Amino acid sequence: MRRPLANVIVIGAQWGDEGKGKITDLLSKSADVVVRYQGGVNAGHTVVVEGQTFKLHLIPSGILYPDTECIIGSGTVIDPKVLIEELDQVEALGISTAKLMISQAAHVTMPYHRMIDKASEERRGSQKIGTTGRGIGPTYADKSERTGIRMIDLINPDRLKEQVHWTVNYKNVILEKLYNLSPLDAEAVVKEYLEYADRLRPHVIDASLNIYNAIQERRNILFEGAQGTLLDLDHGTYPYVTSSNPVAGGACVGTGIGPTMIDRVIGVAKAYTTRVGEGPFPTEAKDEVGELLGDRGAEFGTTTGRKRRCGWFDGVIGRYAVRINGMDCMAITKLDVLDELDEIKVCVAYDMEGERCEDFPSSSIQLAKCKPIYETLPGWQQSTVDCRTLEDLPKQALDYLRFLAELMNVPIAIVSLGASRDQTIVVEDPIHGPKRGLLYS
Ligand code: GDP
Ligand code: IMO
Ligand code: MG
Repeated sequence: MRRPLANVIVIGAQWGDEGKGKITDLLSKSADVVVRYQGGVNAGHTVVVEGQTFKLHLIPSGILYPDTECIIGSGTVIDPKVLIEELDQVEALGISTAKLMISQAAHVTMPYHRMIDKASEERRGSQKIGTTGRGIGPTYADKSERTGIRMIDLINPDRLKEQVHWTVNYKNVILEKLYNLSPLDAEAVVKEYLEYADRLRPHVIDASLNIYNAIQERRNILFEGAQGTLLDLDHGTYPYVTSSNPVAGGACVGTGIGPTMIDRVIGVAKAYTTRVGEGPFPTEAKDEVGELLGDRGAEFGTTTGRKRRCGWFDGVIGRYAVRINGMDCMAITKLDVLDELDEIKVCVAYDMEGERCEDFPSSSIQLAKCKPIYETLPGWQQSTVDCRTLEDLPKQALDYLRFLAELMNVPIAIVSLGASRDQTIVVEDPIHGPKRGLLYS
């Protein structure tokens, strides 16, 4: 008998890099279709399977299952050069990419987007955002300005030529006059992008229709978020955010699916906090604890190799992510990184200029004034990497997880203790199990 229908969104509950790739890969086992709904090659999702490491930027993490269809939705932005490199890499490992499809409505990152991203960051000086330099913001800006080139334009040579000539003329004024950069040669850009078009054309589809039909056929869809709640353009720590909507609501807009078709929202958070790029970070530990978390957690960006800023778990952020995403349950990753610590701090509220603040402030200026109020829990000082059930965990580790679940008012359905698939405790089936998990009293 067919299992009950469940369409699930997996989102990052912090500032990205929570381990969404690992959790999506794990959950893809019960999905027929995995869909990316926002972001572009700023994302870096690492999946480790049988000792082999896959670093995915645009291709959904479901690609590693032979029968799972993968779709890159309309809310994403596509750098065709990087996507083709990624397709080559995946194929070189013997994995077919024939089941990968791309929305015709997704916007295309062009060379001037990357140039403007880097030049505008430089121009901002101390106001810089710390972007990945992948042209993400400028691609989304063109989408809003209605000057963007979409996948459907890319695969139509006449349309592509016309649009590239018009846009390059327009962007050259900005490149030369505003940023003192050399202008682009429109014909060279056309030639380069026509080649990309030939390679990608067989993958381009009407993704919204395809996903709708899959749902009608009672196939299970997993929507994979990139980035995280606090990098959301509307609900994150603006302006230190990305230019898309990683929150669960973004999955509907970014795929063309109605909210009534979503059954579950699963959040992913690390057992501590990291952030790459600029912006306020109340629990940042600029001391030996931060160093230890960075070293044990190998906290270097998958996309840019930048060192990630590290700090304690922030329960105010956790509660906010539960609210903003309508989260049903959570996966806590990298618990093993805390194994050596004798005590572990958790931020339970903020002190904002003498006032206790339980709710995440909606302004980065206010957030920068917030000091964490910590509760200290005992560490377990033993390895958890081989634990496979809750009973295997040291009591202090279980108490830590219970504390987090109660603090955020959300059940914890999955605990991750290492990068590989098997280093996982599935407390409750997050897709088909009851909505009240064990780690929640
Ligand atoms: P994503 O962007 O959310 O997919 O996360 P990243 O892949 O950028 O970063 C997470 C990193 O942590 C990757 O290198 C994963 O292989 C690794 N990882 C995931 N889960 C665990 C875990 O439970 N423990 C440890 N030690 N590493 C993990
Ligand atoms: P995944 O999917 C962590 C951050 C950048 C910068 C800000 C804006 O791997 O979790 P952008 O290039 O998007 O304009 O940069 O967002 N950022 C990420 N941080 N993980 C990511 O993706 C990120 N994608 C963007 O560091 O602060
Ligand atoms: Mg990442």
